[in-house]
Amino acid sequence: MALDSFCCPDCFSKLILKEKKFICSKCGREYKKRGNISILLPSFLSENKIKEDDIYLLDGKDNSWYNNKVWYYFIHLSSHIIRFEREILLKVKGPRVLDLACGNGWASFLVKRKNPHFEVYASDVSFNSLDIQGKQMSEIMDVKPDAFIVCDAEKLPFRDNFFDTVFIIASLHHFSDIGKALAEVKRVLKPGGVFLAVDGMMPKIAQKILGDEDSERTKQFGILERKITYNQWQKFLKVGGMPANSLKLYYDPSYLHGYATNPDEEKLIRKSWIFNAAKEVIYGAFLSKINQSLVKKLGLTHIFPAGIVIEYHK
Ligand SMILES: C[S@@+](CC[C@H](N)C(=O)[O-])C[C@H]1O[C@@H](n2cnc3c(N)ncnc32)[C@H](O)[C@@H]1O
Ligand SMILES: [Zn+2]
Repeated sequence: MALDSFCCPDCFSKLILKEKKFICSKCGREYKKRGNISILLPSFLSENKIKEDDIYLLDGKDNSWYNNKVWYYFIHLSSHIIRFEREILLKVKGPRVLDLACGNGWASFLVKRKNPHFEVYASDVSFNSLDIQGKQMSEIMDVKPDAFIVCDAEKLPFRDNFFDTVFIIASLHHFSDIGKALAEVKRVLKPGGVFLAVDGMMPKIAQKILGDEDSERTKQFGILERKITYNQWQKFLKVGGMPANSLKLYYDPSYLHGYATNPDEEKLIRKSWIFNAAKEVIYGAFLSKINQSLVKKLGLTHIFPAGIVIEYHK
């Protein structure tokens, strides 16, 4: 890892390494490392971002079971992982790659396994996500990232023109200021670098009825999980300085919340595409309005068979 990789997320000046601590060359702020995790957060963090860290400590109280047993992720979110392998992994350019808001880091580890010579940065605003789940996932997948970084997507602690690829999987809708985060991604990308993202999309009519910031988890845990329309995505891209044609609608009913464990099952899921598409639309409605056990009984879990993909080349 290059020593001049990092900058201060408060004042964006160079960080210097002194006695195992990073110190800002301008404002003097000190940044710590805990084990192999560098904590490069801005001095102010809003409540919803702090709560993201608590989610990883909920131990059974969270509705996403995979947050408690990290290997559940492979079963329940297998279609999420398959989609990444088919649609994103092939487009990841090296050598320097940032997985932003990586959660347990599974995507970082897939990139590193496929390209052992790449320099892969697994990052999240939550220390616990990396410390608890990231480490477990790294062991299970038997790959190590080159760096674990705790950072805020809206104030990235990296110098300009640094990464060949930045990707964000299913996390943009958690960010407080998506336009700002996209502008930050653009700043840290090298000219010729690529930004890739997948996320959900909410039909306008559904958002009108439901509002855009009141998912069940927002109410229950205080984190942000927004339901974003296509028009809103377009606006965020504009704020981030990315052209409108970087945004595409994504649709593949086979990428359901992971039930398909073999090709035959996947065919069956594809056959019932009308049902699956309807399910995706209703999911937002139910998820925010009705009680969680009913959501589970009806199988209305969220993972995006329809949504948006961003592919931006700087
Ligand atoms: C739905 S999870 C997705 C994680 C992972 N990419 C995956 O596909 O499993 C959203 C992640 O976004 C992170 N996050 C939320 N706000 C963030 C921010 N401002 N900067 C960086 N990460 C953030 C959360 O801590 C959480 O791990
Ligand atoms: Zn500073």
